[in-house]
Amino acid sequence: MGEEHDLATRLVHGAGPHPLGAVGTPVFDTAAFVLDDHVAHTRAVADPAGTLFYTRLQNPTVASLEKVLADADSAPRALAFASGMAAISTTLLALLRGGGHVVASDQLFIATRDLLEHDLPAFGATVTFADFRAPAALPAALRPDTRAVFFETFTNPGLDVLDVPALVAAAHERGVPVVVDNTFASPVLVRPIELGADLVVQSATKYLSGHGRAVAGAVAGGEELVARVAALRRTLGSTISPHTAAAIIDGMRTLPLRMTRASASAQRLAQVAVAHPAVAHVAYPGLPGPNRERAMRLTGGAGFGGMLSIRLREPARKAAVYDAFALIVRATSLGDTASLVDWIDEPDVLRISVGIEDPTDLETDLESALNAAL
Ligand SMILES: Cc1ncc(COP(=O)(O)O)c(C=O)c1O
Repeated sequence: MGEEHDLATRLVHGAGPHPLGAVGTPVFDTAAFVLDDHVAHTRAVADPAGTLFYTRLQNPTVASLEKVLADADSAPRALAFASGMAAISTTLLALLRGGGHVVASDQLFIATRDLLEHDLPAFGATVTFADFRAPAALPAALRPDTRAVFFETFTNPGLDVLDVPALVAAAHERGVPVVVDNTFASPVLVRPIELGADLVVQSATKYLSGHGRAVAGAVAGGEELVARVAALRRTLGSTISPHTAAAIIDGMRTLPLRMTRASASAQRLAQVAVAHPAVAHVAYPGLPGPNRERAMRLTGGAGFGGMLSIRLREPARKAAVYDAFALIVRATSLGDTASLVDWIDEPDVLRISVGIEDPTDLETDLESALNAAL
């Protein structure tokens, strides 16, 4: 699939061509591959990633997904993983081999925060958390032994939009690689590698899969860094299964359609929430303010995403609102075709992942759930 085509076209056609002229991506449901003779075995052992040998190391279905992932993020190479956390932990462990320091945003998905705060220090790393919304915070936190900078483009659950080019410039000035979690935006809205980031990680469980039926992760970036992550994936075994890889390829075919729809509906739901008397604050990148301006610069106007967080005036009414949703599903996760409401570990905040249902039906459901707070 040539670069002359738009991303939407490349996502539909980019996994092929496939053996036997298959239109859908075949699932190579096998643990191992036949070796013709001892020479083939010797070659496979010498170069397991370059030879069909064993599915933890290489599989054609996984390779098809990795081709699509690399193309979507304008990256030379991508890797698929068993989960978003497998992608993030394998990447950070690869960069922090033998210890070293990470500077991370203080607004992170909770399991990423746990990894950085508790697990990586147990393996000898040191971590500084900083408020990446303040331009001077990152340069002040960098040290001579800093090996990585880590942040989310659209933060979870605060929905702040970070200034990716400015953060990349500050890290690169000191020679430090930048790892960006782009799960909320997806490559349809933001492509961090084009903005200078060294590695982009994603929970493919969310928008890439799009149907809430798969758990997977992705890393994309330059050859040298991705090769280091690939070497560690081989021994950690954090590989994706071929079945899941095919599900992510299928999901990514409709990613631009779903993201455009979710962005348009989320903008409407954000406005419903802003106007509601039970609501104290709505965090949505499409609402007026500095986040919207930054989002416009990062996305070029492609949309503001499907995620919004609603802060209620009365924390005591949070449970009543949560229980009152009749269409929007009470469930964790995000990026599904179904709209989901998540409880969130803050006393007065509910987070909504807007799906692809009829937007008027969603507005009605949100309005009546918020009325339960009155
Ligand atoms: C921003 C972000 N990054 C990473 C993850 C982890 O992904 P997974 O659940 O696929 O391991 C999540 C999960 O919700 C997330 O929201």
